[in-house]
Amino acid sequence: MKLTGGIIALFVSLVVATAIDAAQCTNPVTRREWLELTATEKGQYTEALMLLKNRPISGQTRDPTIMSYDDFVQTHVENAVWTHGNAQFYPYHRALMHQFDLAIASTGWTGGVIYWDWPSVSQNWRDSDVFDYFGAPNSTDVDNCVVTGPFSKPNFTIAPGLTQFTRPIAEGGDRTCLRRCGQDVVLTDSTIIISALMNATTYIKFRGDDTSNYHAIGHTVLGVHHGLVDKVWWRWQQLCPEFKTDYEGTLIDVSDPVSDGVNSTAYASLQLDSFEWWKISDFLETESDLLCYNYSKSAGDLPLSLLPGLTCPSAKIVPEVESPIFLENWMQDAIGGLLNQANPVNISKRDLPSSSYSVTKNIDGTLTVNYPDGKKIFIPSKFKIHRVFESNIQAISLTNGKPKMFHEQKSVVLYQEPFCAVKPDPKNHCFLKNPPRLTEKIATGMNLDWNHVQSSDNISAMKVFEHNCKCSTQ
Ligand SMILES: *[C@@H]1O[C@H](CO)[C@@H](O)[C@H](O)[C@H]1NC(C)=O
Ligand SMILES: *[C@@H]1O[C@H](CO)[C@@H](O)[C@H](O)[C@H]1NC(C)=O
Ligand SMILES: *[C@@H]1O[C@H](CO)[C@@H](O)[C@H](O)[C@H]1NC(C)=O
Ligand SMILES: *[C@@H]1O[C@H](CO)[C@@H](O)[C@H](O)[C@H]1NC(C)=O
Ligand SMILES: *[C@@H]1O[C@H](CO)[C@@H](O)[C@H](O)[C@H]1NC(C)=O
Ligand SMILES: *[C@@H]1O[C@H](CO)[C@@H](O)[C@H](O)[C@H]1NC(C)=O
Ligand SMILES: *[C@@H]1O[C@H](CO)[C@@H](O)[C@H](O)[C@H]1NC(C)=O
Repeated sequence: MKLTGGIIALFVSLVVATAIDAAQCTNPVTRREWLELTATEKGQYTEALMLLKNRPISGQTRDPTIMSYDDFVQTHVENAVWTHGNAQFYPYHRALMHQFDLAIASTGWTGGVIYWDWPSVSQNWRDSDVFDYFGAPNSTDVDNCVVTGPFSKPNFTIAPGLTQFTRPIAEGGDRTCLRRCGQDVVLTDSTIIISALMNATTYIKFRGDDTSNYHAIGHTVLGVHHGLVDKVWWRWQQLCPEFKTDYEGTLIDVSDPVSDGVNSTAYASLQLDSFEWWKISDFLETESDLLCYNYSKSAGDLPLSLLPGLTCPSAKIVPEVESPIFLENWMQDAIGGLLNQANPVNISKRDLPSSSYSVTKNIDGTLTVNYPDGKKIFIPSKFKIHRVFESNIQAISLTNGKPKMFHEQKSVVLYQEPFCAVKPDPKNHCFLKNPPRLTEKIATGMNLDWNHVQSSDNISAMKVFEHNCKCSTQ
């Protein structure tokens, strides 16, 4: 009897193990370099990008099959402050590329994510046939707007409403077109990638300063180029088993929506900006349950034998953590009292100066913080305001002394079916499905504002309906 039970248990565990194995990545998709595409594929890929661009903005990032190219631009810009110049940089962009992979596949393109190995042509990048498809860099336009190919001015415009963020205001000129600045620059060379990045012994060292390294020049000169950035990280991760899970550093600061509001340490268990339902840890390995890809070899992959000094860490990498200054501050504040001038609050550059907002005390004991742009954030009674950020406020509970983040309470945008002369036909080739909706339990479990979730779902459902109506009447 006992023996049989044991055999059954063993059998069950084998079945379970097999089921888990089946879900894992056994046959990774290889992401190819631009030059590996045939001329036909290059045209098809360009066409797929146009199809993505022509989709309406869905206003969400959860369902990639209805995301427009502009959804990627928009979420990247909106979260840029949290996702650059700090630990989140590489995993965030890997997640962005993953959604992009699924989005472009939903246009019918079957070739996966394509990257461009521009460090291998750092001197003569202008001669690459990439620009035959995506528009020549030596533009005749006064603002360097792309004027050849399908991404030309005026037909092609940057995601509406975002023009003020996409370039420094001081730069002026046409900020609605696709611009490539720096025709004469030499791009970061493959030798620099290998000596400055591949030689790193920790993730912190590898990441370096992403706001000024090879990544930044890619944005300025080329526009989209994150395929290569992800490959560089992937290649470094291949060097040592420990690098595949190595993740450490800090967030920009505690005002990052994914922060616990207490300290700015980055953990692999934290959520990702733009994709709150995922964790950093979901994006450390490219061959997992969620991701299943690797990269092809390309001309810029200089041999790693050029790094004779590199030895893998013998033990788990001990994270280098910056001192938790914010933690000290809120504790000091909670104890000393906000108005206690003997304990001055250490204000970072991300705090709004107190002269730029006003605080009103309401009859019921709650506080209203009035922002210069008209935005209001309510703080319940039994909380006192500690730090006021651009988009949220950290307040400290008078009951347990713990800090909590408060966000703007937006009212729910209700779904109202837009007018359509016909009934949209799901069999139409351009018909888009609505994104799946999160339940309230899941949304609040992920710390998302339920009103905001419902509104963005309603707004994208209306946009999708309008798109489907238009596609059915064409
Ligand atoms: C990528 O995966 C494919 C199998 O899908 C495999 O043949 C190839 O060797 C892998 N490449 C690398 C660099 O691991
Ligand atoms: C841009 O560069 C290409 C390739 O070098 C050349 O054929 C073309 O004439 C140039 N166009 C302008 C406007 O300079
Ligand atoms: C813009 O689109 C129109 C209509 O499709 C087309 O005729 C025109 O050539 C396009 N302009 C450019 C610069 O591509
Ligand atoms: C890699 O780093 C080691 C140790 O810091 C150094 O001695 C070596 O010169 C570096 N190699 C290259 C190619 O930069
Ligand atoms: C920062 O907060 C986390 C909780 O999210 C905690 O586990 C960690 O110990 C804190 N770090 C420091 C240095 O206090
Ligand atoms: C504020 O924080 C900075 C950075 O850690 C530190 O150098 C400075 O001494 C702090 N100032 C106060 C008043 O605590
Ligand atoms: C739109 O949001 C409201 C919340 O006010 C929600 O009750 C409703 O289900 C949403 N509309 C649809 C079609 O799901």
